[in-house]
Amino acid sequence: MASETAVYTHGHHESVLRSHRRRTAANSAAYLLGALKPHMRILDVGCGPGTITADLAELVPRGEVVGLEREAGVLEQARAEAERRGLANVSFTTGDAHALAYPDASFCVAHAHQVLQHVGDPVGALREMRRVTEPGGIVAARDSDYAGFVWYPRIPALDDWLDLYHRVARANGGEPDAGRRLHVWAREAGFADITSSSSTWCYATPEERRWWGGLWADRTVQSSYARLAVEGGHATEDDLHRIADAWREWAASEDGWFSVLHGEILCRVT
Ligand SMILES: C[S@@+](CC[C@H](N)C(=O)[O-])C[C@H]1O[C@@H](n2cnc3c(N)ncnc32)[C@H](O)[C@@H]1O
Repeated sequence: MASETAVYTHGHHESVLRSHRRRTAANSAAYLLGALKPHMRILDVGCGPGTITADLAELVPRGEVVGLEREAGVLEQARAEAERRGLANVSFTTGDAHALAYPDASFCVAHAHQVLQHVGDPVGALREMRRVTEPGGIVAARDSDYAGFVWYPRIPALDDWLDLYHRVARANGGEPDAGRRLHVWAREAGFADITSSSSTWCYATPEERRWWGGLWADRTVQSSYARLAVEGGHATEDDLHRIADAWREWAASEDGWFSVLHGEILCRVT
């Protein structure tokens, strides 16, 4: 089995976790929820700070959820979130999506949110998720598709942001336009029964704009993505400050509107 070759572009700076912590099963895994039953055992691959993982655990009160994550540090937050909610049916562990340390058919559902875009071998990761899921079970994945992001008003430096993000993410071994490719990766991984869908997040209120624009402004100059952009020769510090200013300008505009496109797949294991 392969192991990870890609660098996780965002890292776990506070500005990144500010984004992840807002995620819920309702706003990030709605395409999966109709298939869940209270007794199910779920593996949440690349669970990060675990807010979606904890929601999934609440939805399977007679089942169990395991959150698996490559970076041990962020699991402290995930465990604290589960403890805060008093959840007894969720646990967290470190591991690599490409080489899951579970026997075949260990779970009813294997889920990954915003993970396949960051891994070195998304087809290999989906094969592993299929292997550890029982026949009749489901492999579910949702990933954003950066080229499908749409916003208003037009601010030229935000076009530069998108171009820079594509270059940095691909140099790190990821695929930022993963959403449109998920069904193709799933077919390559051996799935025959694949249901594709798409959904968006939309940010338009003053509070949403402050949060989304603010976290991207901070990420652009403070997170791993900023460091990797400069170290990789993709941008100068001045470029990053210009892009961060553009995010603040977008957030301050009362006409500001941003739509984040995602692709989704539900794959039945046969
Ligand atoms: C964008 S975050 C998504 C976190 C969470 N699923 C959510 O949506 O809030 C991607 C996560 O995948 C983890 N990750 C990246 N590559 C991985 C791999 N090969 N195996 C397991 N986790 C990985 C990263 O450390 C990061 O926490």
